[in-house]
Amino acid sequence: MNPADFDFVTSELKRRSGIVIGKDKLYLLDSRLSPLARKEGLASIEELISVVRTRRDERLMAQIVDAMTTNETFFFRDKTPFDHLEKVVFPELSKARPGQRIRILCAACSTGQEPYSIAMMLDQNPKLVGGAQVEIVAADISDRVLEKAKAGLYSQFEVQRGLPIRYLMSYFTQQGDLWKLSDSIKSKVSFRKMNLLEPMNALGSFDVVLCRNVLIYFDLQTKRDILNRLSKQMNDKSYLLLGAAETVVGVCDAFAASKDNRGLYEKGGDGRRSGIRAA
Ligand SMILES: C[S@@+](CC[C@H](N)C(=O)[O-])C[C@H]1O[C@@H](n2cnc3c(N)ncnc32)[C@H](O)[C@@H]1O
Repeated sequence: MNPADFDFVTSELKRRSGIVIGKDKLYLLDSRLSPLARKEGLASIEELISVVRTRRDERLMAQIVDAMTTNETFFFRDKTPFDHLEKVVFPELSKARPGQRIRILCAACSTGQEPYSIAMMLDQNPKLVGGAQVEIVAADISDRVLEKAKAGLYSQFEVQRGLPIRYLMSYFTQQGDLWKLSDSIKSKVSFRKMNLLEPMNALGSFDVVLCRNVLIYFDLQTKRDILNRLSKQMNDKSYLLLGAAETVVGVCDAFAASKDNRGLYEKGGDGRRSGIRAA
């Protein structure tokens, strides 16, 4: 790929999604855009980019952005955040606001394994939230992953990654080569398209926000802006969960890091470490 095409794609990608691709990741453009060029009946990535540039083809540009997103995810990914939900977040929220509805946002939900993991966990143990109603909103910038998430159809490989066998038996049925999630769990999650760079006010306010394994793709200013805007969508007593390689420390002081629970943050506290503990 010539330098002008590289600069064009990476600057459009950053402007539209926040994702930063350095020169050392040139191979990512090749591996992700070649299939798109082929699908569009174009001879090469160069031709794909030329079509986008000369025709100002917004549909194709949106597909380039979609193709450049990294959608790696799996059920109960990293386990620890789900332990935090079970042992700290849900007990604390139930204590602070007994019986009140709990709203959860999975920002950057990819193909749905994260929100569905929470829905299955709560279905197994409704006492975790003291019987309160729970609403799970899951969002992503990519139409492609949202389609798959809504379908709730997963491959053998996908259900073997992180999903306890008893959950597979309780909530999935085999459909050809795939596993279909039950309608009752699917109905507990509502999916919507959302770009983290854009206003989030329409989503309302949340008690729990998971924003995991997406901030790593952004530069510092973008992370700060997203975390600040997310904090404005969060209720006074509310919790943020980030991915294992992400932190608010030195980025945004709207949250306090939990002393004992890595990756868990409480809204408020001027960035000081919070004393929230496991129940
Ligand atoms: C690696 S996945 C993380 C999925 C899940 N949260 C997890 O931890 O398993 C990152 C997701 O972020 C989404 N994403 C990237 N940029 C985004 C943006 N600006 N707004 C919303 N979602 C974005 C991608 O489409 C992708 O599905």
